[in-house]
Amino acid sequence: MTLDTDHSLILDAPAAVPEDTALCQSWQEILLNRTLIIASNRGPVSFTRDEAGELQSHRSGGGLVTALSGLAEYADACWIATAQTEEDRAWREGMVPLGESGSALRVKFISPEAKAYEGFYHVIANPLLWFLQHSMWDIVRAPTINRKIWESWDNGYVSVNRLFAEAICEQIIAAPQPALVMLQDYHLYLAPGFIREKLRSRAKYTLMFFVHIPWPGAEDWGLLPSKMRRAILEGLCAADLLGFQTAEDGMNFIRTCESHLPEARVNFKRGRIWYRNHSTHVRDFPISIDVAALDRLAASPEVAEFHDQLTERYGRQQLILRIDRTEPSKNIVRGFHAFDELLELHPEHRGNVRFLALLVPSRIEVEEYQKYLDEIMGVIGQINVKYGSSDWEPVRILVGEDYPRAVAALQLYDVLLVNSLADGMNLVAKEGPIVNHCNGVLILSERTGARQQLEPGALIIPPLDIYATAEAMHQALTMPLAERRERADRLRWLIERDDIVAWLCQQLETIAQLNL
Ligand code: G6P
Repeated sequence: MTLDTDHSLILDAPAAVPEDTALCQSWQEILLNRTLIIASNRGPVSFTRDEAGELQSHRSGGGLVTALSGLAEYADACWIATAQTEEDRAWREGMVPLGESGSALRVKFISPEAKAYEGFYHVIANPLLWFLQHSMWDIVRAPTINRKIWESWDNGYVSVNRLFAEAICEQIIAAPQPALVMLQDYHLYLAPGFIREKLRSRAKYTLMFFVHIPWPGAEDWGLLPSKMRRAILEGLCAADLLGFQTAEDGMNFIRTCESHLPEARVNFKRGRIWYRNHSTHVRDFPISIDVAALDRLAASPEVAEFHDQLTERYGRQQLILRIDRTEPSKNIVRGFHAFDELLELHPEHRGNVRFLALLVPSRIEVEEYQKYLDEIMGVIGQINVKYGSSDWEPVRILVGEDYPRAVAALQLYDVLLVNSLADGMNLVAKEGPIVNHCNGVLILSERTGARQQLEPGALIIPPLDIYATAEAMHQALTMPLAERRERADRLRWLIERDDIVAWLCQQLETIAQLNL
């Protein structure tokens, strides 16, 4: 991404997508000569004990783990994360087979004190930073920055970031080759600054940081106390390459530095920031899904079994589907209000359409999340009482995490609703079109990162507007087959072209091009 002086965006030509799994040439060259260090709050594996009391590893789900652990085939790699369970703490460090070909990755857990982790994760990262970055604070009432938040900052967020930085520095120093450090997400904003402070020029390393969630405008960051805001910006400006999901997020970051870090020099056109004798390149690398792995899962007997069950239950009617973690940022309640509006405005859909929601409980320790789950249940109850009959239940929810079941549901939708208030990317919007069998229509919020790529095939809605969302549902449900097919084909093409391999490849190629 580059940014013009009038702040309009000029997108660089996308990096070439590898033709096959041998990856692009410069990937391998970079990785051959580097030791790779990945850091994220959640690790690529978790541990349990089997009946004999032996520790057993379980690979975590998601494309990020697939993509980054796949690098272990090409590089000497170590992944640093926080221990989430007693068993993780007991494991501490060692090689874990993760790659598809059985290649192994060193996994190292850090174990903050319980109270420090509580402040780091449950007070600062979620909700304070998460809500801020998804523009979700209702500032008349919240947040109130009180002593608890300051304690959680000093003894939680700052200290856990220091632990990460120390563990990463140890690996950098011990590495036989220059290190390439790939830090992930909003939990670790301070770590790059701490690493640079500790190592100065004692070792050769490149710091790459990827922010998975939206980066809002400078005004939103103005809500944080300046000490926190400054620490976050200084931390990120210690990275060599800073990646965001969209060009707009990158531009917002540069603007935030321009407004709140007066000593920094910024260049929008080049996507570059200079601060304290160090320069940071800012780019967008839209994350995606592992298309090949998803295709394999979609063809599995387990998915086929769920597919048959769901078809039997919902196959006779048109199906609107949503799949989300129960997060307020997903705008689930307004999605149901829009469905209510649809049934009100277009009564011909009553009895003929069902809304199926697959909801995965998330962060239930955070009060706002609990309240939101109650609101979701409330609105579903109202709709089912208002319109339901003995042979038609308008809304059905299935709560719990079951990925094969979710994939089977994605095969069946006529309409997939993604109406988030803000979303870094939203991978459901990319998974759906890949596995769907029905030329289903994607309704996509204009405030998702996915919009940057998927707009040509989707129906785009403003997430606060339930009338527009209801009309988009009607348009999708009554769309002629030829248009549905054309849109579905376009979406598939766009997603296949830029999958998770391309995401990783673009980052490594940028490092090579910039000589970092
Ligand atoms: C969402 C975000 C990710 C983030 C994750 C953390 O999925 O898009 O960027 O890393 O939440 O989830 P957790 O369950 O670890 O709080």
